[in-house]
Amino acid sequence: MILEVENLTVRYGAVEAVRHLTLSVGEGEVITLIGPNGAGKTSVLKGILGLVTTSGQVRYEGKLLRRREPEALALKGLVMVPEKRELFASLTVEDNLLLGAFPRFQRRERGIWEDLDWVYSLFPRLKERRRQLAGTMSGGEQQMLAIGRALMGRPRLLLLDEPSLGLAPLIVREIFHILSELKARGVTLLLVEQNARMALRLADRGYVLEAGELVMEGRGSELLQDPRVIESYLGIRAQEAAGG
Ligand SMILES: Nc1ncnc2c1ncn2[C@@H]1O[C@H](COP(=O)(O)OP(=O)(O)O)[C@@H](O)[C@H]1O
Ligand SMILES: [Mg+2]
Repeated sequence: MILEVENLTVRYGAVEAVRHLTLSVGEGEVITLIGPNGAGKTSVLKGILGLVTTSGQVRYEGKLLRRREPEALALKGLVMVPEKRELFASLTVEDNLLLGAFPRFQRRERGIWEDLDWVYSLFPRLKERRRQLAGTMSGGEQQMLAIGRALMGRPRLLLLDEPSLGLAPLIVREIFHILSELKARGVTLLLVEQNARMALRLADRGYVLEAGELVMEGRGSELLQDPRVIESYLGIRAQEAAGG
């Protein structure tokens, strides 16, 4: 297992946003964490990265992560694409991508320019617009840029927080197509999504989080056929609730 989360609890003051969560991600797996708005999905990712107060244990590549510092984790290949994308709006597309490799530049790592070519091959649109300022890109292009920038850190485990949020259906399809290409290339993904159908189709395994607690887990294909999942996340009513 590349990631083992055991008994993770995330607190904001008196509020427990995540309670006693246990999940694992195997090398090369695509794992999805689905659940409604406010369920605690973002808090799980932040808890793994140590961006919020947690209790419980997080093991990455077999080692217990105690003090977790994002830059050090990035160098170990643990990288997140945050929900709000957090791009540098006044820098070009290419500079944003290169900043994703900043810790690698500092260590004089090789292969950075090859990785830039690789990201451009995944996202031809980013290549076309490499001199454009990130802030002037569409929402979908910004999401692609956020994913591309994370890939420039050469992740061994990529955490994605709702990459499809707020994007038009066609763009969502494009984003999922890229994720399936990453999967085919063996990049390990932990994908947080509200788009349960597409996420479960892509994923090897899935977890369902409700009000801070895991309520279901299983193979993606099994969850897609589970009556409770269909009722809550895939049915017509669920789609209406999600605004689709
Ligand atoms: N910084 C914060 N301070 C206080 N409460 C928070 C904070 N961030 C999130 N929460 C609360 O924690 C719960 C889970 O939030 P979040 O992890 O963002 O859920 P999700 O990503 O599934 O929508 C929600 O009730 C939310 O209001
Ligand atoms: Mg969230």
